[in-house]
Amino acid sequence: MNERFFNTAARKGFHWPGRILAGEGVLETWLAERGTGGLAVVADRAFAGHPLVRRAGGPHALVAREPNRDDIAAIAEDIAATPPAAILALGGGATIDAAKAVAAQLRFGTLDIRDRPRGAILPQLVAAPTTAGSGSETSRFFIAADPVTGIKVSTRSWSIVPDLTLLDPLLLQGSGAPRLLLGAFDAAMHLWETHIARGERSPFTGALAQGFLPRILAALPTLAAGAEPGGATLLALMEASAMAGVAISNVRTGLVHSLGESLAAQSPLAHPLTLRVFLRPALESYADAVRPHVAPLMHALDGAAPDGAPWSVARFIAAWEGAFAALGHDDLIRTAFAARQPSAKALLATAARDTTLAKENPVPFAEGDLDRIAAAGLAAFAR
Ligand SMILES: [Fe+2]
Repeated sequence: MNERFFNTAARKGFHWPGRILAGEGVLETWLAERGTGGLAVVADRAFAGHPLVRRAGGPHALVAREPNRDDIAAIAEDIAATPPAAILALGGGATIDAAKAVAAQLRFGTLDIRDRPRGAILPQLVAAPTTAGSGSETSRFFIAADPVTGIKVSTRSWSIVPDLTLLDPLLLQGSGAPRLLLGAFDAAMHLWETHIARGERSPFTGALAQGFLPRILAALPTLAAGAEPGGATLLALMEASAMAGVAISNVRTGLVHSLGESLAAQSPLAHPLTLRVFLRPALESYADAVRPHVAPLMHALDGAAPDGAPWSVARFIAAWEGAFAALGHDDLIRTAFAARQPSAKALLATAARDTTLAKENPVPFAEGDLDRIAAAGLAAFAR
């Protein structure tokens, strides 16, 4: 396949080279069936003492932060001393990204693997996410910061999609509603933005949005009440995150992510919080244009409404806003902005360079549109 292929209005593709096993206890079962020989475990620091990590003979590397390229080189050198048959990544997005980068280093001798074709490659990469949201467990991206500048560099390659993704809700237990909500919102934005991309959207990723966005929204009332959902809902959130990771690997994200990622360059806020800042102004700016296209999606969401009221773009925005406010996340954004007010000018300078955004936004930008949307997002959280 063409490694750089993205959909056009006339030609649609869908690609995903991985496998998924999902269910309660699936990590333990997989470990028992496979055995632990030749397995190198890259784990989040919080899971260092987890019984399954110990059973796998690890951890062989611990991840305590978003990795930079020096961190990756050190882990890869360490692990390469006894070349593993498989790397098991156990952790959130940063840990899985680190394992992907380590696998890239071991497979190709470099992290610069952009658009490199997938071949017969060792070590095998297995991802067992302990969060639900980033989609790293199934996506063709990893982020590794430049160790000198701190600038995050995203690498895209089908060759780094995990060979096997294990979705085990036992690993999500005890995360707590605030953290689950952030992940759920990120995954929801992945499904939403790939669904409304003007030229790149496809019936394939559209089906993912229709199938999995309702599962996320069904969990929202529980999360907004500050309660942790039961195992079946935790599994549904993991499945939605994984499919959203597949969606963003096929169709690029849009306005909310573009502005959020620009904001991240100026702010220590977690990725989902940067997205939250632009939710209302971004979606309102194109709500009329996408209404016919999202009507079937809204109909699919009706099943996720506890009160049976019909969904709309306005209700979609309000549901997320209510949950974020209820769990105190909006206060985190206000506090961060009070400490350092982001510069709208710097934000726009980065976002304006996003040529995909200009091409894929549901409505073409007129002069000043992007400025108004960015300013409205920032103003809503200014003290
Ligand atoms: Fe995201």
